[in-house]
Formats: sequence, C-alpha cells, structure tokens
Amino acid sequence: MRPLIAGNWKMNLLRRQGADLAAAVARGLRGTDAGVDVTLFPPFPAVAAVVEAVADSEITVGGQDLHAEDAGAHTGAISGPMLLDMGATRVLVGHSERRQEFGESDEVVNLKLKAALRHDILPVLCVGDTHDEREAGQTEAVVERQVRTGLEGVVTGRAAEITVAYEPVWAIGTGVTATPDEAAAVHARIHALLQELWGQAAESVRVLYGGSVTPGNAADLLTRPGIEGALVGGASLDARDFCAIVRAACA
Ligand code: PGA
Repeated sequence: MRPLIAGNWKMNLLRRQGADLAAAVARGLRGTDAGVDVTLFPPFPAVAAVVEAVADSEITVGGQDLHAEDAGAHTGAISGPMLLDMGATRVLVGHSERRQEFGESDEVVNLKLKAALRHDILPVLCVGDTHDEREAGQTEAVVERQVRTGLEGVVTGRAAEITVAYEPVWAIGTGVTATPDEAAAVHARIHALLQELWGQAAESVRVLYGGSVTPGNAADLLTRPGIEGALVGGASLDARDFCAIVRAACA
C-alpha cells in the first residue's frame, strides 16, 4: 500500500510562512520517487496560500478540523464546503487536541467524519489513548471505541476514502514515541477492527502512526507491517526534517 505522510502544522505559521514552508517541502521532494502520498494540514487561514504554493507538485492540502454542518449559526467554525472552496481535499477529525481542548466526543467526531464524506473530502480519523489509559491497560478498549463510534454508519463502499491515525496522546509533542512494537500492536488491532467492519474493503484503509515522529525514528516505525504512514506534528514545521521522513517512507 502507498504510504501517506501528513504534516499537521497545528496553530503555527502565518500565511506567508506557510506558503514558504510548503514551497520548501515541494522543492525538497522534487525528484523523489513518487511512491508516497504527501498531505499538509496548515491552519485554516493559510490553506489557500499553501494550495497555491504546492500547485505544481503532487502534494495535497487538508484542513485540521471541520464543522458537522455545512453552514449556519456556528461562530468560529469552518465547514466542509469552505474547505473545498480553499482547495483542501483532506481533513483531520478527532485529533486529540480537539478532543481534549474543545471537548469533542466520539459522536461529534463521527458527525464531522460523515460531513467530510458528504463533500468527498478524505477524512483522517485520529484516535489514541492517554497515559492513564495505557497505564490502566485500556489502550485497546479506548482505541476500539474511538474507531467504532468514529466510523459508525460509514458504508463499505466508502472504506477506501478513510484513513485512521493512531496517535497515543502521551507521545504527542513529548519526544516520547511508542516503540515500533507498541505501535504495531495497536495498528494490528485497528486493522482487525476495520476488517470486521468492512471485510475485504478494509484492506485499502491506511493506518498512520503519529506522536513525536522524527527523521530518526521514522524508518523503524514505517517498516512495521500495518503502519502505512505517519501524521507528523513538530517535525513537519521543518522542511528538511519533513522531507527526510517522506524519504524514509519511500525506502
Ligand atoms: P507531534 O504531533 O509529531 O508533534 O508529536 C503529532 C500530532 O499531533 O499529529
């Protein structure tokens, strides 16, 4: 399966800075074997500028969130049609920072994911256990609940449009990565669950790993079966590091 390397810039970079970083990534990847899909997730105000900056490349652009409704009285929110209008083709749903800071439940995440599909925007469903949940041995149960509820009502015919990202909350921005064995075990569980939901169609679903991915650990993680790419936060803000992670996925 073609790996996907995605850069989640979070709440960083002004429009010009975002366009410059995206252009540097596009330059850095020029001539790289085209065996990897690459998506950048800038903050909303920079999406259109980044789309323009990567127009001559294979890089695609996504939003970091969307509202479940298409329009209406939802102050501060961004809808699927607005993302499309800016040229975004993917969207993150249920990132742990949205769950924790903005109180998004699995049910809300599910509505957002279905809103993305309604507009043919490719959703990346983010799931992950907290430190306490892992200590309590609840990792599998938590991830299973997040995947099942997040994908509730998604028919088999749409499986190919879905990406799942396993991001242990304790590994995000901490410099502590799950070991390749720990990550691979959860990925295997997620793949089994997807298989149960969608049968053979689940084989086209990529499950990314996220949480302190760097050029130093990317190869170890990406060579494990069941890890079909990475969702990169901090290291995606540096063009050299991000391109090195993409190259690790090519290898
Ligand atoms: P990190 O973030 O790479 O900085 O840990 C990953 C993410 O939150 O998607």
